[in-house]
Amino acid sequence: MKKIGILLSGRGSNFRAIKKAVDNDDIKNAEIAVVISNKEDAAGLAFAKEQGLDTVFINHQDFADRESYDREIVKELNSRNVDLVCLAGFMRIISPWFVEQFENRIINIHPSLLPSFPGLDAQRQAFDYGVRFTGCTVHFVDAKMDNGPVILQRVVEVKGDDTAESLAERILEQEHKAYPEAVALFCDDRLRVDGRKVKII
Ligand code: GAR
Repeated sequence: MKKIGILLSGRGSNFRAIKKAVDNDDIKNAEIAVVISNKEDAAGLAFAKEQGLDTVFINHQDFADRESYDREIVKELNSRNVDLVCLAGFMRIISPWFVEQFENRIINIHPSLLPSFPGLDAQRQAFDYGVRFTGCTVHFVDAKMDNGPVILQRVVEVKGDDTAESLAERILEQEHKAYPEAVALFCDDRLRVDGRKVKII
């Protein structure tokens, strides 16, 4: 049984998609051990509470620097023996120290086809650039932002009448498929990281 720790800052729709997949047994051999947020009013945290999950709010403003904040998060994760950390709209850069503690055990989702359009507001960046195709990427987290080995990607075509908002909505639909699929592969021990490449076995 793999224990999953979710880190989020906002709406939490990707977390909901993962939770649903765990409940439906699309993700097998897994349970959500804890949901941690740096925002007390995050809708995702409220949903986790409603669902009776273990939740923790840790205010980053209470800590002097990034690593001391991350040490508190890692303490919470380790006290629940978390195997896999899922960043689900966690809008903070995590420290190299945190990455080391969970090497190849932290997964993130990003709303573009990386390495294109890292950083904030990736859907709008892609829309403004004028690309014909964009999408989402699920990847292992390394010490650089939006950079680690790619697990899965899903492509979304940009339509002539799209706005940045309509495009973001269609990307989000694909995120909700890609993220649970990647988590299921991890929980089934089907992912092997070899340098930059992830093999699905
Ligand atoms: C998602 O679109 C996710 O890809 C993005 O934040 C949103 C969170 O939504 N993450 C990033 O941009 C990370 N660089 P959610 O709270 O509804 O899951």
